[in-house]
Amino acid sequence: MDMRPEIIRTAKLTPGQSVVCIVDKNEIPQFLNLENTEKEYALKQLQSGENSVFINSYNKCTYIVKLKEDGLHYKTREELRKAASGLKKLIRSNNHSEIIITSDKVYKGAIADFTEGFLLGIYSFDKYRTRKDKEEERNKYPSKLFLSGDITQAEIKWLTDLTDAVYFTRDMINEPVNVLNATALAEEIHKLGLKGGFNVDILKKKQIEALKMGGLLAVNRGSVDPPVFSILEWHPENSLNKNPVVLVGKGIVYDTGGLNIKPDNYMAQMKGDMAGAATVAGVFYAIATNNIPLHVIGLIPATDNRPGGNAYTQGDIISMHNGMTVEVGNTDAEGRLILADAISYASRYKPELIIDIATLTGSATVAFGNKAIAAMSNAGREYISLLEESGNEVYERIAEMPFWDEYGEMIKSDIADVKNVGGREAGAITAGKFLERFTDYPFIHLDIAGTGLLKDDDHYRLKEGPGSGLRLLATFLRKYAEIKQ
Ligand code: BES
Ligand code: ZN
Ligand code: ZN
Repeated sequence: MDMRPEIIRTAKLTPGQSVVCIVDKNEIPQFLNLENTEKEYALKQLQSGENSVFINSYNKCTYIVKLKEDGLHYKTREELRKAASGLKKLIRSNNHSEIIITSDKVYKGAIADFTEGFLLGIYSFDKYRTRKDKEEERNKYPSKLFLSGDITQAEIKWLTDLTDAVYFTRDMINEPVNVLNATALAEEIHKLGLKGGFNVDILKKKQIEALKMGGLLAVNRGSVDPPVFSILEWHPENSLNKNPVVLVGKGIVYDTGGLNIKPDNYMAQMKGDMAGAATVAGVFYAIATNNIPLHVIGLIPATDNRPGGNAYTQGDIISMHNGMTVEVGNTDAEGRLILADAISYASRYKPELIIDIATLTGSATVAFGNKAIAAMSNAGREYISLLEESGNEVYERIAEMPFWDEYGEMIKSDIADVKNVGGREAGAITAGKFLERFTDYPFIHLDIAGTGLLKDDDHYRLKEGPGSGLRLLATFLRKYAEIKQ
């Protein structure tokens, strides 16, 4: 990704500078200093139902964006993010070196929402393209965005750090496994920790063996690369929680399925099977750079899943970190094996809450498509309500699935404590139930298989790895700290 534009707060508009102005009525603000004919034209466009108007004056460009009001405020906000992303081509074609973003009488936060949609929309993963096309050579996105209006420096910091976190997460997801194996992923996360101010410890294979993490080791057996287990920690002095929140991310740097190899095109996006891991790292960056007063631990088991010489097989019985035994019904259900070790490892922190995030099951995609993160929980309702509220706010919505005991019965094994598959039915839930078996602490499971790896751009949620769940979890933690205050 090219550098993201610099974001600068500014008090006033400079005449002659190009500007984006968000409005909610068919009115053209005086401060835009448009000619009468331009104003008339803009007004006509708005009155005819256009949601954005572009005016190319001789010395500047003006983009007027009208809010698409929806009954629900959070939907209006999302429309604005989408509108911002929708303007990116036009803005780039005008090759501004800088642009002002402002508003007229709209809701507080509109400038931030627009800027967020724009920044997330203009991301690109182009480091491997040595030849650019003509349009790319000729025109660039503005390198500076001046925000003018009701927005504080702290809000700008949150916005930019969150965007940088999403960029990092997307970069990680987009990197192929021939560049980013498990060790390389851990090193990138370590570097991010240095930059963001949170701690990262990386456990190597020897330590993983000593910890008897049988799930992670089993999945790793077909690989020529060693597994790693990263431990992230953010523990500011003013932490408001006595016991940490633990975030666990699935770090399968490539999922071939193993010996139960994925057929046809099912392997296509599996370099992104570490999206959960990259998301957890991104969340740490956002909360650490913004000094969120909470103690948070991140656990990231990582390996590729391949059919190599000594690969684990269907029928294997493996012994996990907490001593439980698992019958392997399918080597493609590998995510839950590495997560289970991490989730049982979390017990040593006596966590207040464990949340895992993972591209875990095709079944979650079948249920919700790319519209919702599948959530399952045995934690108090206050957590899931706050998560739901956070999800609406950033429009990374969660949809809850039942988490009844009966689903747990579907993963019984005759010869081990539990089996890693439960058949075709209710696959997302039985996967969640499997994970739940590895902890006695309050637990929320987020399956981002549907939202985390997109085939096409969905507005500012760009294809491949949009970074699903990052803004959700970072916002959840920020709000949780606010409540505790
Ligand atoms: N990584 C996949 C799930 C996945 C599929 C994520 C598509 C994103 C897009 C996971 O490891 C997997 O293969 N799950 C299996 C489980 C089955 C064997 C019980 C699945 O969902 O088919
Ligand atoms: Zn798999
Ligand atoms: Zn997987």
